[in-house]
Amino acid sequence: MADPAARQNASPASDSPDCPDDDASRAFRELLRGLRVWDTELPSFDPAQVPAEPLPLFRRWLREAAEAGVPEPHTMSLATADVAGDPSVRTLMLHDADERGWHFATHRGSRKGRELAARPRAALGFYWAAVGRQIRVRGTVTAAGPEESAADLHRRSPGALAAALVGHQSEVLGSLEELAHASDAAWERARREPDAPVPSWTLYVLRAEEVEFFQGDAQRRHVRLNYRYTGGRWEKELLWP
Ligand SMILES: Cc1cc2nc3c(=O)[nH]c(=O)nc-3n(C[C@H](O)[C@H](O)[C@H](O)COP(=O)(O)O)c2cc1C
Repeated sequence: MADPAARQNASPASDSPDCPDDDASRAFRELLRGLRVWDTELPSFDPAQVPAEPLPLFRRWLREAAEAGVPEPHTMSLATADVAGDPSVRTLMLHDADERGWHFATHRGSRKGRELAARPRAALGFYWAAVGRQIRVRGTVTAAGPEESAADLHRRSPGALAAALVGHQSEVLGSLEELAHASDAAWERARREPDAPVPSWTLYVLRAEEVEFFQGDAQRRHVRLNYRYTGGRWEKELLWP
């Protein structure tokens, strides 16, 4: 099998293997350099005026992101790792954030479900460009029981139920026709049976040990406030940006 690092650096059109200089590579780098972040007025953030615990601040920032027009502010990156420590990341919906932790749901047999079963640690990342804010959360993940998982699923839309009913998440798919067939059947069942059980669908709760709030600043004096749960209480610290 080809070495992925060697393949990434390969460049028949360049003298330097580290910096390919063909037209497509140059155009791509120009595109990246031309893109801007935070071409807008950003909110200020005073870390002296924050609650003792991170949850109320998280809820406030999510509400402010929604009010600022951030699209889908309740979507987040979920990072997990397998037993060898190899990481994976993907986007998920946040279902809730309360005193127990940050809630999300997925199939137990998916890659993330298998990784969480073997190693119940995870990190979440939220990025809300319109307000220049990022939040990351890290902690231990617990699977809720079947009743709570089913109740969470059946509170959601028929589309969410249909998607869950399709199943086989993260398995290799033979063809798009196979998916269309399974999806049609799942939609039909979701309409006919709004309480249809999906035994593999599981609600997970991440109990935070660290929650970091990042407020971007036009002068690059970004403010980073980290909450750490130690000795039974939350402690706060500023971090260099
Ligand atoms: C906006 C968005 C929201 C998503 N929400 C979920 C979700 O709540 N649960 C889920 O299982 N997959 C969700 N997905 C799909 C996941 O990103 C991912 O493709 C899938 O869960 C398989 O991940 P895995 O193979 O790493 O287990 C979402 C994808 C996007 C783009």
